[in-house]
Amino acid sequence: IDKKLKFKIADENLKDFGVKEMKLAEREMPGLMAVQQRYGKDKPLSGMKITGSLHMTIQTAMLIQTLQKLGADIRWASCNIHSTQDHAAAAVALELDVPVFAWKGETLQEYWWCTEQALTWPDGSGPDLIVDDGGDATMMLITGANAEKDPSILDKPTDNQEFKIVLERIKRGLESSPARWTKIQDNLKGVSEETTTGVHRLYKLAESGKLPFPAVNVNDSVTKSKFDNLYGCRESLADGIKRATDVMVSGKTVVVCGYGDVGKGCAQSMRGLGARVLITEVDPICALQAVMEGYQVVTMEEAASKGDIFITATGCCDVITGEHMEQMKEEAIICNIGHFDSEIEMSYLENSKDCAKINIKPQVDLWKLKSGRTIIVLAEGRLVNLGCATGHPSFVMSSSFTNQCLAQMMLAKGGLEHKVYTLPKKLDEEVARLHLTRFDTKLTKLTDKQAQYLGISVEGPYKPEHYRY
Ligand code: NAI
Repeated sequence: IDKKLKFKIADENLKDFGVKEMKLAEREMPGLMAVQQRYGKDKPLSGMKITGSLHMTIQTAMLIQTLQKLGADIRWASCNIHSTQDHAAAAVALELDVPVFAWKGETLQEYWWCTEQALTWPDGSGPDLIVDDGGDATMMLITGANAEKDPSILDKPTDNQEFKIVLERIKRGLESSPARWTKIQDNLKGVSEETTTGVHRLYKLAESGKLPFPAVNVNDSVTKSKFDNLYGCRESLADGIKRATDVMVSGKTVVVCGYGDVGKGCAQSMRGLGARVLITEVDPICALQAVMEGYQVVTMEEAASKGDIFITATGCCDVITGEHMEQMKEEAIICNIGHFDSEIEMSYLENSKDCAKINIKPQVDLWKLKSGRTIIVLAEGRLVNLGCATGHPSFVMSSSFTNQCLAQMMLAKGGLEHKVYTLPKKLDEEVARLHLTRFDTKLTKLTDKQAQYLGISVEGPYKPEHYRY
């Protein structure tokens, strides 16, 4: 850790651009603005050191500004090598004066260096709280603490190249500060997790009794996953594909793998542009939902030779394999919108002597295949909406990030067990209410008689916990 290094970003000259775009985001982020107004005076996060590992975009800059107004001392890194908006990073570093370690196009080595910087304060201490997206910061911390207990895990063989990098970094650090990660882990008041994939990681830990601190699942607030994952992807997927390729979507056959919240948004977006949409699913409930919407549900084996554009949205691995790619049409476009780059078997392309890459522009590669045909791969198989475009619009991120702020305040209060919590429904409803103010809407108010009839309070919550929206 370089104690004198205040931040590391691509270009300090982009600060003014970043600041102007943050200003423009304000009107579209009514939830975050309300949090700033409501809690700015009391500063419920004062004295809290927060590490963020979340796409360093303009919207995230607004989240950082809000957490700062609530009193937090913050350090930040991005959670993907391609997702940083360099003007946003510049505004955070120079206008908000928050140490940020992020730039667009990091190598994986740099990425984990940045994550470690965000987790380490100049005095060697760590955060009280983590805002995580995908669970990388949490994973690094827990792996470090586990390695301090049992250093042999650092030498266990692994095929996962990225995990190897993490282990190497931890190994190097152990020599100079042997109990550092354990101290950070023991001091941590908790993690709030942004996305489906990161939440899976947390529940896995909790189920095996290995979650070492409390966690809040922000993803499953209704005002997060049923908005960001769905409507956010409905807009930013097409943005990513268009900026990367300018392809005409209308008339094409688009294959969406996974019909969860993200897949539903992707399918709707592509259909809205006039595509014929095919879905692949493993879950019969989601497959039936797709059928009810009029989509054809197929397997990848069947779809591989039919699709013009392929989108993975599963959070699973090996969804599009080398075998599938070899069957694809000339110049089929493939991309992933799920959190990790494990959905498309990139290693097939990278390691096969029959495949060759021609770079068209950043995040757009033509791959020549054994079949003699070429396919177009976007963002190297990483999140297309953040790699090839600028992620979700401010408005929907305001809804997600308002939940993040509420989660951070809940964790800061303390008194929680080492479990994964979701935010109370009343707060979820409040987040929705705040975002309704952006529109010309008039909500109906229950009469006392009606409330009694339904057996709920006039002020809500309006639905039982098991309601699915
Ligand atoms: P979800 O769990 O609601 O949906 C995933 C769906 O994929 C499920 O219905 C599952 O049955 C299906 N699936 C799993 N394995 C499959 C396979 N091998 N073939 C076909 N279908 C399969 O999850 P959600 O919320 O839709 O998230 C999906 C991914 O997108 C996650 O990695 C999440 O972290 C990420 N995400 C990305 C965003 C972005 O901006 N790029 C925004 C929100 C989430």
